[in-house]
Amino acid sequence: MSAVIRDLLLTDIGSAVRLLEECRMLADTKPADIAQFVNDVSSGAPGVVAAEGDQIVGIIQARTVADDAWINVVVIDAAWRHQGLGSAMLQRLEEKLMHLGVRKISALLSSAQAGETALVNRGFSSIHDLVLYEKLEPIAPTAMRIVDQYGGEIPSESLWDRVAGMHEEKKIIAGRVVAPLADPSTALKVGVRAPATVLLFGPPGTGKTTFAKAIAGRLGWPFIELLPSKLESGVDSMSSELRSAMNDLLRLDHAVVFIDEFDEIASARERNPTTKGVVNELLKMIPLYRSAPGHLLVCATNFVGDIDSAVLRPGRFDLVIPIGPPDLVARRALWEAALAPLDQRDADIEKLANNSGGYTPGDVELAAQRAAAAAFDRIREGGAPAYISQEDLDAAVARTRGSVTSDICERFAQEAERFARV
Ligand SMILES: Nc1ncnc2c1ncn2[C@@H]1O[C@H](COP(=O)(O)OP(=O)(O)OP(=O)(O)O)[C@@H](O)[C@H]1O
Ligand SMILES: [Mg+2]
Repeated sequence: MSAVIRDLLLTDIGSAVRLLEECRMLADTKPADIAQFVNDVSSGAPGVVAAEGDQIVGIIQARTVADDAWINVVVIDAAWRHQGLGSAMLQRLEEKLMHLGVRKISALLSSAQAGETALVNRGFSSIHDLVLYEKLEPIAPTAMRIVDQYGGEIPSESLWDRVAGMHEEKKIIAGRVVAPLADPSTALKVGVRAPATVLLFGPPGTGKTTFAKAIAGRLGWPFIELLPSKLESGVDSMSSELRSAMNDLLRLDHAVVFIDEFDEIASARERNPTTKGVVNELLKMIPLYRSAPGHLLVCATNFVGDIDSAVLRPGRFDLVIPIGPPDLVARRALWEAALAPLDQRDADIEKLANNSGGYTPGDVELAAQRAAAAAFDRIREGGAPAYISQEDLDAAVARTRGSVTSDICERFAQEAERFARV
């Protein structure tokens, strides 16, 4: 028997794929991605085959990027091993690649896989101290399409660490939400059921949205926000849109679904036929979410006291978690962030954090801008110093009233007492 070494042609694809399929399970053959192979060959990637009649018994195929080539496929029919086919195919492929302007050819094989001898014979040197790093991304491409369709994202794991301070809240969320979802089997062993639905409440700007995203980041799950206003394409279709969105998202293996401004749809005061329908739809979805492990519904509201009591009944939200105003450590971080882009030299972060109780992130931003504006006016009039001073900052803080007034704080404390379920 002898085989002919020739270029891989488009018309070889059928026969080549048959050989790839046959060799697919062989331990001594580099696993080939068949779809990729067909794609490469169809788009003209260089390859060489060994053919006996119209049977393909060996394939080497490469992909080129500028003057580099990577050998993707090395397959030799089991009956044709150790007859020099590999070296002969490789020699022809090298010639082809040189004509294409390739300088360096690389191949990744494990030892004793088909083609190794050929590479050695053809003078390829092996690099022993290379370590192969691989990562299978947790989200399949089809799932990613669903995530994209709803404008979702996969938040970074580091988001959690960027939430400064808020130790109480972090402790509860890490322990009651993240840990049981990340390790449901250990949780179940002791009888802890991972939460399916969580309600976060607290004054504006306290980090509810950030926490919801950070949970997804910690879990490595996609985060999809369904905005009540986004769902509202028409009065009647709002609840059916919510249903179809939530059903679609259940097709994912994992997801954190987030509904912000939950009071807009679920407040007792605002109850009208539209929101009533939406809330009913949501209540119907909750058991589905509960029976779908890997799915977490997070709702957030500023006004938990306004939420219809039917929605807050036990059995609906597994956890109702208060998120308080930024604490001292959080305010320090907010000041650091707000001042970073500004020209200030002697800012006393500690003092600013201490004097800005009741500030939300937006208030910190506003006060920083006010200080900058004061410095700007002075500099234009030729005054000194020519940067934002601590006095500018102090004056701005004195002028800027925290959004979380003592009334709001008191109300929040009462609501936390009354509604928190952690
Ligand atoms: N503890 C924190 N550390 C650092 N940055 C924070 C912290 N809390 C909030 N922020 C920042 O403040 C901004 C507002 O936070 P976020 O949108 O999460 O608040 P919220 O509670 O969802 O507000 P709202 O009630 O208005 O929806 C974000 O830019 C966030 O990054
Ligand atoms: Mg928010």
